[in-house]
Formats: sequence, structure tokens, C-alpha cells
Amino acid sequence: MNLHRHPDLDPSSSDAVEFSLRPQRLAEYIGQVKVKARLDIALQAAQRRGEVLDHVLLFGPPGLGKTTLAHVLANEMGAPCKVIQAPALEKKGDLAAILTNLEEGEFLFIDEIHRLSAPIEEMLYSAMEDRKLDILIGQGPSAQTLKVDLRPFTLVGATTRAGLISKPLHDRFGMVHRLEFYTREELGIIAARSADLLNVHMAPEGAGAIARRSRGTPRICNRLLRRCRDYAEVKGDGTITAESADACLKLHEVDDLGLDGLDRMYLEALCGKHRGGPVGLRTLAAALGEDEGALEDLVEPYLMQVGFLDRTPQGRKATDHAYAYLGLKGSSNPGPLFQ
Ligand code: ADE
Repeated sequence: MNLHRHPDLDPSSSDAVEFSLRPQRLAEYIGQVKVKARLDIALQAAQRRGEVLDHVLLFGPPGLGKTTLAHVLANEMGAPCKVIQAPALEKKGDLAAILTNLEEGEFLFIDEIHRLSAPIEEMLYSAMEDRKLDILIGQGPSAQTLKVDLRPFTLVGATTRAGLISKPLHDRFGMVHRLEFYTREELGIIAARSADLLNVHMAPEGAGAIARRSRGTPRICNRLLRRCRDYAEVKGDGTITAESADACLKLHEVDDLGLDGLDRMYLEALCGKHRGGPVGLRTLAAALGEDEGALEDLVEPYLMQVGFLDRTPQGRKATDHAYAYLGLKGSSNPGPLFQ
């Protein structure tokens, strides 16, 4: 997606090993305690009534488990789950074919749902609300609308930013859940669980060293775990210890907070060139040669989470913590850092 991000810290791409580490059931899913509690009630209620689960919108930064959660929900309901990326739906007919082929109770997961084209999004409204599809047959004055009944289904939509979803679409979801960054404790448990699944020996301190640098993101945690496994096998006896994890992540230039070259370049541009802001995203993106969307989705959320960045109506502003982190003047008393 961009040139400057450390590939293991890019939460927007996943792979087959990553997929194999994903929990299948809600009970195995670590973290997102509130979202899980709400979903658990909705699942049990739907099961008791013999109904399908209401449509669910999940939002939050990449890598926090939106796709995983969609599969977990389908598994809990004993239903299959079809996955599509919104930009892959080019024609109304693409969506019509998918919707009319859904089995009763099946889940449809639409990733990046904010990227649906307007005509396709509009088609979803009646599909979600009345389980009906209006299909236009023919062209010109002889064109006819055919109403097609759909089987009951659950739509799970995912987006990195809820603000990009139109109100009519947003309003058709029965539940809207925001996924949060994971705590270090949760990431430590995820690292230990994944190490077990990969048959890797890891000391608890090794899990802690990985969790601390995972940017609150399970996908990154699992990626760093695999780098640390390689390192421990080549340089040691295969056990991931705090020392081997520290040495491995240092080699990969992932610092103690999990920040990489792109994060540092961002902060340096903001604090150095733009004197801490406020500065517009477009200006920063141009200075870094990066895509605005990539900065907004992949860099800024975590910098805000660790308290280095404020997004204000005037633009992006660095905090005193950011100055302290860069070792620059401008920090008074930044106070305690995130976790
Ligand atoms: N692997 C990736 N995300 C996870 C999660 N939330 N719980 C357990 N294992 C995971």
C-alpha cells in the first residue's frame, strides 16, 4: 500500500498463516469485551427465536479482527459466510447474483463497505430492510422492474471509518460496533495462543515483548511472533525469550512502542517541518509522498492512541509526548504514556 511502512507492521494485508490463527468461536476470541458481550446476547436471542442475526456494521482500524468476527458470528449461527470486497462489486448484477444465491441464514461479509458505488449501495437498502431486490429488466420505455424475494440473511459490513458510511446505509444495520485497539495484556494472550498453535516455545516475557510492539493490533502481533520465531530458531534454541524478541525486533527497526520508519517520518514532518501543526493531512501526505487514506487508516489511529497526535478541526497537531519521543524540545511535562 505504501513504500515506507515496515511490511510486518502493515495491518491492511493478511495471509494464509494469519488466517489459520484466527479464532473460530466467540469463546476463543480474545479482547473486544464489550462488543463480544453485546454480540453474545444478540446471537443467543436470534437462536432462541429461530431467526437470523440482525445486520451488523463493524468499524475500526485495519487488523483488529472485523473479518474474523464476521466468520465467528457465522460459525456461532451454524451458517456459511461469503466474503466480498466492496470495490469488486462493479455492476448491480454482481450484487444481485450474490444476494439471490444466498442460502437461508447465510452471512454476507462486505469489506470496505464505504467503497460501494451509489447504485449498488442503494440496491442494498431494500435487500437489507425488506429482503427484496428490484431488478430492472430491459431498457427504455419497455423496461420493467421485477421484485425478487430474498432468503433471510445477515449482512456484516466492515469499514475503517464509520464517518464514510452514508446515513441511509448506516441506519439499516441493527447493530453498529466499534472495534478498539487491544490492550497489552490481551495481545500477550493472543501471542501465547498463536505460539501454541504454531508449536513455538515462548517465555511469558517473550510474549510481553511482542505484545508491547504490536500497535494494539492482533494481526501485527501474529506477524511479529513469526519473525521472532525465525530469529529464535536461527540464533537460539527455538524458544522466544524477552532477549531474543528484543534483539529480533531491534533488527527489524520496530521500536519499543511498535513505531516504525513511517511513523517516525510522520512525526518528524509534523514536529520539525510544520512546528507541531496544526497542519492539513494533504500537506503531510505530500511531504511524505504517501497516500492520505493510508496515513489516515494505518498511521494516525495508533499515533492518536499512544497520545502523540491530536486531530483538530484546524488540522493535525503533535502533542508534548510526540516531542519527548523524538527527543526534541517542546515538551513540558508530558505525563504518563499510553499503558
Ligand atoms: N488472533 C487474532 N485475533 C485474535 C483474537 N481477537 N483472539 C484470539 N486470537 C486471535
